[in-house]
Amino acid sequence: MNAATVMARCAALDVHTEVPGTITRRYATPALAGALREVEGWMREAGLETRRDAVGNLVGRYAGTVAGAPALLTGSHLDSVPDGGRYDGPLGVLSALSVVERLAARGERLAFPIDVCAFADEESVRYGTTYLGSSALAGRFDAEWLERRDQDGVALRDAMTAFGADADGVAEAALAPRSVLAWIELHIEQGPRLERADVPLGVVTGIQAQERRRIIVTGTAGHAGTTPMDGRRDALAAAAELVLAVERAGRDTNGIVATVGTLSVEPGGINVIPGRATFTIDVRHPDDDTLAAALTEFDAAVTRVAGERRVEVLQTVLSADRAVPCDEGLRAVLAAAVRARSLPVIDLASGAGHDAAALHRLCPVAMLFLRCAGGVSHNPAESIEECDVAVALDVLEHAFRNLPPGARR
Ligand code: GLV
Ligand code: MN
Ligand code: MN
Repeated sequence: MNAATVMARCAALDVHTEVPGTITRRYATPALAGALREVEGWMREAGLETRRDAVGNLVGRYAGTVAGAPALLTGSHLDSVPDGGRYDGPLGVLSALSVVERLAARGERLAFPIDVCAFADEESVRYGTTYLGSSALAGRFDAEWLERRDQDGVALRDAMTAFGADADGVAEAALAPRSVLAWIELHIEQGPRLERADVPLGVVTGIQAQERRRIIVTGTAGHAGTTPMDGRRDALAAAAELVLAVERAGRDTNGIVATVGTLSVEPGGINVIPGRATFTIDVRHPDDDTLAAALTEFDAAVTRVAGERRVEVLQTVLSADRAVPCDEGLRAVLAAAVRARSLPVIDLASGAGHDAAALHRLCPVAMLFLRCAGGVSHNPAESIEECDVAVALDVLEHAFRNLPPGARR
């Protein structure tokens, strides 16, 4: 079992999509169900014992030799952003499975069980619930999320039921901290630093803080031809100022990244002044306080624009995640594994969010990044090299073998 198999399996998952010709696999869709089924089949062929939890995560267990030893959790997610790439998520799941297959092929077991996790929702594009899948394991699933609705008005609770998940059983999906040794995830870098350094892998230092909000600007809809310019309460024009304020918050502070990823306008007629504009913001920084300061700056812009343009602005925080450091001991294990492959150790902070941010509440976490072409991700052009995956499999196996039994806090 090798890198070629990992590459082929990542490609084989492309067919599980909501929109043919793209990779679009949101939570609780038939596309995601298809991908989970396919991966479950590969896990079973490898002799793993599989289970689904209440939110629909798939976990395949490779037993250890010491009865009752806490499990190493590893893997990643199988959901995607709309029109996303092939490797964001699946690479981590299928590489973890490949390492277990290598052990199984040699009839070898480690002291502890290895749980290969395929999370059902990391991207949160359908319900804005960051790390929904791993949150259930970490015991941080917020029951209020169940009432959230997607863009078609489907409540999360109903989507879960249709998906065969169990909205009322989510609390039982939480793992006991004493049953978990650590979380280790391989993921594509989604940035250009490893490629620029000409190195296949990097050791992640931590995941930056992030906050996401929905912002509804309400003005007055009206006739585009008859309403004088000075009498208008144009919701989109006000939103446009706020979109630029978000960008300014990012530009003004070194390290802040600030994005408006969605915007919709109602009622949406070519000859109608917009009465309502709804958009989302996603703002991140490695330091919690710096992020808070940038958001305060944005709040001031909201107050100013609302006053000047006589519109109402309603902000709802969709998620707020503090910065999460990776575990020093696990980072040292990954670094030693990288050095054992005669490679330099490159430390990288993660700009993207990852399940480690949720699992950090449960156990020590660590991540390995793999270079991707041009740093491109959340894009169908996402691309990686098989030779880098081969190195990553060696490094992961080395790390798994050398995990200190006391990795657990
Ligand atoms: C997940 O990929 C994120 O960082 O938004
Ligand atoms: Mn992603
Ligand atoms: Mn991801």
